[in-house]
Amino acid sequence: MKLTLIGTGYVGLVTGACFAEVGHHVVCVDNDEAKIKLLQAGGLPIYEPGLAELVKKNTAAGRLSFTANTAEGVQKSDVIFIAVPTPPLPDGSVDLSFIERVARDTATAMTDYKIIVDKSTVPVKTGEKVAETIKRYCAARVDFDVVSNPEFLREGFAVSDLMKPDRIVIGTRSPRPVAVMKEIYAPFNAPMVVTDINSAELIKHASNSFLALKISYINALAAICENTGANVQEVAAGMGLDERIGRRFLNAGLGFGGSCFPKDLSAFIKIAEQVGYDFRLLKEVQRINTEQMDRFIKKIIDTLWVLKGKRIGVLGLAFKQNTDDVRMSPAIELCQRLQKEGAILRVHDPKAMDKARAILNDATWVDTLDDVAEGCDALVVATEWDEFKNLDLDRARKLLTHPIMFDGRNLFDRVEMERRGWIYKSVGR
Ligand code: UGA
Repeated sequence: MKLTLIGTGYVGLVTGACFAEVGHHVVCVDNDEAKIKLLQAGGLPIYEPGLAELVKKNTAAGRLSFTANTAEGVQKSDVIFIAVPTPPLPDGSVDLSFIERVARDTATAMTDYKIIVDKSTVPVKTGEKVAETIKRYCAARVDFDVVSNPEFLREGFAVSDLMKPDRIVIGTRSPRPVAVMKEIYAPFNAPMVVTDINSAELIKHASNSFLALKISYINALAAICENTGANVQEVAAGMGLDERIGRRFLNAGLGFGGSCFPKDLSAFIKIAEQVGYDFRLLKEVQRINTEQMDRFIKKIIDTLWVLKGKRIGVLGLAFKQNTDDVRMSPAIELCQRLQKEGAILRVHDPKAMDKARAILNDATWVDTLDDVAEGCDALVVATEWDEFKNLDLDRARKLLTHPIMFDGRNLFDRVEMERRGWIYKSVGR
């Protein structure tokens, strides 16, 4: 099928590449000309495992192309996916101006029947507004259908999540686009849920908020474990074996971050408020998330006492492993708060150093993991990168003035660390 994706951020670019991989002909559109030029020249604006190979292969096969011209993109395909950002406004609600703009531009360019599919995360009832807008601005007065098709990919696992989705949600008020949507997704062999548009839009916010709730729940349990001598990882393992609960997203740590959970949670609280429901449960999820970082900083201060002038090595800057994304990263927040206390930082991340440089000042940037500890008073693990487990602990011990580690992601074995002579503080253990 011929498909157009408007917006080549994480969702648009990865979805476009995966659609091309299963045989569709895909045009990716972005109004950022520099980004389109980079993609046309074979470069990638983001790091995502497996993406470079897919883009290269499908561009060479002629199934994937890029343009900065929206009208061209709209006219080339029957199905137009909207995958533009929906950033937060200062009051926590969602800025829908990019969506509105794309709806208008699409409407202006349409000359025959199109299916307009919203993939961006939007508040419930946005689809209705998109339909109204298209109707108003479509001078050619052609038929169209609007579909809500939320995306559930995780950064760092975006390609595999897209190629093997848990479910495909198709929200529409007319039966006409359902067969087309099913055909587009048939190669992915996933269960399909067909709903009305409003329910599909809600499924996205409800799912992300539920996952955030799960993380805050385990972080609250971590606090109880610390006060009772229990081990949060063992509690999570014991709970997770109950299929109704499941082990995933029960990793205690520094709290959730990234460009989705914090924003979607605020948005969902606001959406609920606007429709007359005070979602206090989710406000508590936010509060626990903020407190989680406070408790970790307190742990560092309780051990090191005065941070002014102390040298601290920080492992990890990305908001989680397998990504170079530092937006709303707990690791960056941790660095900034340590700096505010007067600490001097040596930092390292396998992928996120370039992006972090734009938002973190006055740190020493260390290229190799094993050199971070040099001359430091303590090490902090801030991102759950698996490769940090390969840290040469004996060398790190020698490089540090004292063998102290604050592990915000529970990467190391507590008993083993203490046996090796480390002063080792982790989360909920
Ligand atoms: C999240 C959802 O998982 C995706 O399903 C969704 O499509 C996406 O948002 C989106 O709305 O676009 P993502 O933000 O990429 O994906 O990251 P997650 O893997 O969900 O992690 C979010 C944060 O939670 C990270 O800071 C991570 O470190 C933290 N986390 C995750 C924990 O602290 N503990 C856990 O057990 C899991």
